[in-house]
Amino acid sequence: MKFNVTTETPANIKTGCVILGVYERRILSSAAAQFDQATDGMLKKILKNGDMDGSSGQTLILHHPAGAKCDRVLLVGCGKADKFNSRGYQQAVLCAAQAVNASGASDAVSYLAVLEVPERTIYQKVRTLVEGACSAAYTPDALKSKKDNPVQPIRRLTVAVDAQDMASARKALVDGEAIARGVELARTLGDLPGNICTPSYLAKAARELGRSSDKLKVSVMDEASMEKLGMGSLLSVARGSRQPAKLITLKYNGGKTGEKPFILVGKGVTFDSGGISIKPGAAMDEMKYDMCGAASVLGTLKACIAMKIPLNVVGIIPTTENLPDGNASKPGDIVTSMSGQTIEILNTDAEGRLILCDALTYCERFKPAVVIDIATLTGACVIALGSHAAGLLSNDDKLADELLEAGEAAGDRAWHLPLWEDYQQQLKSNFADMANIGGREAGTITAACFLARFTEKFRWAHLDIAGVAWKGGDEKGATGRPVSLLTQFLLDRSAS
Ligand code: BES
Ligand code: MN
Ligand code: ZN
Repeated sequence: MKFNVTTETPANIKTGCVILGVYERRILSSAAAQFDQATDGMLKKILKNGDMDGSSGQTLILHHPAGAKCDRVLLVGCGKADKFNSRGYQQAVLCAAQAVNASGASDAVSYLAVLEVPERTIYQKVRTLVEGACSAAYTPDALKSKKDNPVQPIRRLTVAVDAQDMASARKALVDGEAIARGVELARTLGDLPGNICTPSYLAKAARELGRSSDKLKVSVMDEASMEKLGMGSLLSVARGSRQPAKLITLKYNGGKTGEKPFILVGKGVTFDSGGISIKPGAAMDEMKYDMCGAASVLGTLKACIAMKIPLNVVGIIPTTENLPDGNASKPGDIVTSMSGQTIEILNTDAEGRLILCDALTYCERFKPAVVIDIATLTGACVIALGSHAAGLLSNDDKLADELLEAGEAAGDRAWHLPLWEDYQQQLKSNFADMANIGGREAGTITAACFLARFTEKFRWAHLDIAGVAWKGGDEKGATGRPVSLLTQFLLDRSAS
């Protein structure tokens, strides 16, 4: 999709579709009012007729408006004007993108970025528009022999802004598209099935990304090398699988040589059956998404490359399947992690922390500025926060605040949960340094407490993305979250 900006008025622009906001009830946004005047009160008439009242989620397409130069006009409901906020804006943008893609128009001009949104800059509004348009154009049909939808999404989106906002808007187009491409990569990888997207496939995808930029160096460790480093915990998860585990390292050198890197560690379980502690069958297919943390690391690095972010960023991806087998780990097995700490595996389904702990210890050698791990780690996080916010836990409150702020700015939110010492006792084992599960209570926190035992040497945050990385049901599919949050976080760090 191509993007550009314009300062042209809505009735004067030649396009397949002009997109205008309407507030509840039947209140025209200023661009819509301008269009209405030029078309002899056409919009007011139609709203009065009861076709639309402007409540959020509504869309209405009108064809060949007399007095305007466009083929169509798409009205988008924005809800009550005095309640319109960044979330409402994001929703309006998505609704509009879906409706315009279904309309058959091949290009569109959106006047949504000129809507007033409290606490949103023009840069943020335009970026949301670009990210929303790309997101709506994504279809997970790579493996369908016949495509579902014969209607093509729009190929060009022009964003209307005021003249004084041109420069910020242009910057937002570039950044928005870079982030959208990162999100798209994360979604594509997430949606691939476990029989295709194996640990080796992720390694291949990482190498491919490496070939796209001479600033990105990719290396892939095999099981023998991990064995040498003493990664007994990571390797224990791979025991039941015929697919070899990998540890992928991606080094993006955008900053000065020797500058401490920001490290992103992504859980890459390409299928999580639970192992010997096998999961129930219902919706088990969705455990192909258990590598979405890894996918978000690749997506974020892709965005970093496109945006030429002036930081050093390292991606670390421990990746394996978790399957039952005669050779698989059993409940009660005790393994030794790279840190030397021993772990009693009371539940083989708590495998994410077992691969992450060794990857986190491995981070020490990079002398990181910050380490952030991203993982579809606990079902408990889905219960606590649903699909709206990622769980955020950290050993550094400033870092946590920075991540929360990045999530707000990017419209990809997280919520801070406590990592108090009080929870640590739930991980007690009679036979090893710790157990890999902490019981029913506070499952998201005890999982993070487990990881905290491997991150004492650096500033670290953990994003539990179990609830946000994909959608189930009719809209089943990867979301690409939290690529926007992570990229925003890095952007903010490079500015300060
Ligand atoms: N990948 C799952 C977490 C998960 C479950 C994410 C459902 C999204 C939806 C993880 O490996 C897991 O199985 N966690 C267990 C931990 C438990 C055994 C302590 C869980 O959450 O049930
Ligand atoms: Mn599991
Ligand atoms: Zn898992």
